[in-house]
Amino acid sequence: MRKIKIFDTTLRDGEQSPGCSMRLHEKLEVARQLERLGVDIIEAGFAFSSPGDFESVSQVAKIITNASVASLARAKREDIDAAYNAVKNAVAPRIHIFLATSPLHMQYKLKMTDEQVLEHIADSVRYAKAKCGDIEFSAEDASRSEPTFLARAFDTAVKAGATVINVPDTVGYCLPSEMAGKVEYLLNHIAGIERVDISAHNHDDLGMATANALSMVLAGAGQVECTINGIGERAGNTALEEVVMAIATRKVFFDCYTGIDTREIYKTSRLVSAITGVPVPPAKAIIGANAYAHESGIHQHGVMANPKTYEIISPETVGIPQNKIVLGKHSGRHAFSEHLTELGYTLTEVELNKAFEDFKLLCDKKKYVTGKDILAIVSGSGLQENKYILLDFTVDSAKNDESVATIAVSCGNQRFQQTAKGGGPINSAFKALNAIMGRDIELIDYAISSVSSGVDALGEASIRLSCDGVVAHGRGVSTDILEASVLAYLDGANKL
Ligand code: KIV
Ligand code: ZN
Repeated sequence: MRKIKIFDTTLRDGEQSPGCSMRLHEKLEVARQLERLGVDIIEAGFAFSSPGDFESVSQVAKIITNASVASLARAKREDIDAAYNAVKNAVAPRIHIFLATSPLHMQYKLKMTDEQVLEHIADSVRYAKAKCGDIEFSAEDASRSEPTFLARAFDTAVKAGATVINVPDTVGYCLPSEMAGKVEYLLNHIAGIERVDISAHNHDDLGMATANALSMVLAGAGQVECTINGIGERAGNTALEEVVMAIATRKVFFDCYTGIDTREIYKTSRLVSAITGVPVPPAKAIIGANAYAHESGIHQHGVMANPKTYEIISPETVGIPQNKIVLGKHSGRHAFSEHLTELGYTLTEVELNKAFEDFKLLCDKKKYVTGKDILAIVSGSGLQENKYILLDFTVDSAKNDESVATIAVSCGNQRFQQTAKGGGPINSAFKALNAIMGRDIELIDYAISSVSSGVDALGEASIRLSCDGVVAHGRGVSTDILEASVLAYLDGANKL
């Protein structure tokens, strides 16, 4: 059976999507989780694009031992130098070079002729190969390139030393049979193709990203590029969880496998959603809240008799914690720590203390604590310097009345308190917080969802704030949705 390599680009293409930018410690947390998930390659960023990206690619390269670490680079020597310097300390470094090959991109964006594009490919791949053994070449907008020219471009890259040739459907334009046709064409028109991997990189503009990737796998692609939860430019990239579970569920049909530990999928999805603030839609395949819910009586009856009647995947397979009570008020630090280890978390002493404190506070408010609750309090809670800490709040709200909120926070040794009126509890609370900050912080987006079920379920608030052109995402969890909202605001404000 063929092994399909999983190339995760959550930290590069995923991070390029609006509002998905991550800070260094968040990227490191995601990278560690991707390693636990078992991806083959982590594309950690685009080293040349900014000093911050360079730093995060370098740090990821240093901590990852069980996957290759790649940096994106344009077909330019300065980009390749930055990419190499960022990944050189990785156990398995890769440089990922891209250059567009479609008539549209060559004429209007690159302003280069066919021959100039081929020269740039040969020069950049050769230059990179002298530094690093593993070179991926991507023909940007490959799906809208002339097939004969595309084959010449890849042929040039392979001759110059590329080990992987990536065929992106950059604008999500093609259909599955077309993308499969491109792989078949390349297999027949590039000398030495059997020595390199053909890679699938699809965007979801027409909702075809997963179908396109899977068709390419069937046609012979050996690598799939994807992101957690399908985040990425515009409509997003191929969702890792969809490709992996399609291959695992229909193993005989695909006659191939991936190295992914599927039980890590849900946790990874939660982490990326918590860090980016991009919620997972309830009906999302594999990891959506409704993906394993059975509402109609006929379905419920069937599932009770035999889950296979209406479930092709069991929630346990993708690591969704069952709604059973795992810990309670009387559980000690040791039991809590053991449970975290079972969930796959290895926290430092300081992180564990903080998580245990949050857990004890939760136990005071919530009778039964489930695996999902524990995941919610530890996901993306990586320690950050919190400038403002919530001390207290009260909010008065009644139908047809203006709401009044009083909020107290500490900052260092100082205490700040403000009262504000507003059209609703959230509005008045955020006005009080803005008065405390003394800044004009704009609320761009706000969402609240419940983590588990029941009247005492944890509420998770996710907000996006903007101040002086800088945007930050904040997240807060509490059994009280107002407290969750205030915590989310403070999390965002601290990041700003
Ligand atoms: O979509 C695309 O073409 C890309 C390339 C840089 C691989 O992301
Ligand atoms: Zn892309």
